[in-house]
Amino acid sequence: DEAIQISDMAHQMGVKASRLIRTLWGMGMRNITINNAVDVETAELVAAEFGYTIENVSFQEDEFIGAYEDEGELRAPVVTIMGHVDHGKTTLLDHIRKSQVAGGEAGGITQHIGAYRVETDQGPVVFIDTPGHEAFGAMRSRGAAVTDIVVLIVAADDGVMPTTREAIAHAKEAEVPIVVAINKIDKPDSNVGRVEQMLMKEGLVGEKFGGETTIAHISAKTGEGVNELLESLAVQAEVLELRAPVEGPAAGTVIESRVDKGRGTVATVLVQAGELHKGDIVVANEFSGKVRGLYTPAGKKVKNALPSTPVELLGLDGAPPAGERFHVVDSEKDARQIVSHRREQRRRKESVLSGPSLLERIKSKK
Ligand code: GTP
Ligand code: MG
Repeated sequence: DEAIQISDMAHQMGVKASRLIRTLWGMGMRNITINNAVDVETAELVAAEFGYTIENVSFQEDEFIGAYEDEGELRAPVVTIMGHVDHGKTTLLDHIRKSQVAGGEAGGITQHIGAYRVETDQGPVVFIDTPGHEAFGAMRSRGAAVTDIVVLIVAADDGVMPTTREAIAHAKEAEVPIVVAINKIDKPDSNVGRVEQMLMKEGLVGEKFGGETTIAHISAKTGEGVNELLESLAVQAEVLELRAPVEGPAAGTVIESRVDKGRGTVATVLVQAGELHKGDIVVANEFSGKVRGLYTPAGKKVKNALPSTPVELLGLDGAPPAGERFHVVDSEKDARQIVSHRREQRRRKESVLSGPSLLERIKSKK
């Protein structure tokens, strides 16, 4: 029977082997170590925990590994802005982009994730904005998964709130460093000291208190402190030494997708490896298509996109869910094969899920 090495699996999914092992322990497989292999069925279950499916198309999926290698060229950091509703995430991003997104949003509430590549004085940075509204936990979780650094915004007049705590948990879960921005320091009722105390209770201890967390004091409205925040991000990014291969077929993650009446499926994707071109054949989840057009989030037409670039991709035959991976394949025939394989896998999984208790099955394997 086929077996899958724990180390290979961790590598393919871009998660630490220790996390994978802990998950297997949690499923009752207590004797598993990094040197072991698991059968395909177990691998499918644990992969599903991380939002992946195991596929018998290794010749294609292998090319995907590149996205998580520490080799290749230096790339721009991907920074996700998180925090409680109305604490100023979109306003900060606006200030950095010098545009006016927050003012144009329905009710001033971010409805979806926006991704932008911004040239700062400290170099290019990809920013991802997330909604702070409680209903969008899954989006924040997906945001954390593509992120190199989380900027946690906490309003100085409000402090640590439920979504702040949830964002901290997502960042820790994804093992992503957090840079804190205490925002709205221009407001007369702001109380930075109180917020710092609250953050300490969450395990985020500022450098001036002997801890390791960078805490910037900013006003997204006036711009005070924003440069210092950008400098902290540049320092963090340098420490992480982020790299990605720039050659070869592109791979990355779907940030959001929608069906537009005039343009068809519009998927905002983040390229994480290789170079994406107009004309490429792309597979994402159970959808595929030839790239008809690539646009920057600002609407500018481009011919190609390198790692750490968000682009709008036109040409998929359906809207893949946010957080799904995409990759470029050699031909439309390959794309069809992969898609039908994935559909088959899903159907099989659905029938398994409706069968006897999963946990029972895993436990009885011991
Ligand atoms: P959601 O997307 O709904 O989670 O909110 P958000 O975190 O993106 O907050 P947003 O940027 O929309 O800001 C909410 C309100 O706070 C707006 O009215 C902003 O003008 C205001 N605001 C944001 N930053 C500051 C600041 O530094 N100072 C002051 N005085 N107001 C701010
Ligand atoms: Mg917002």
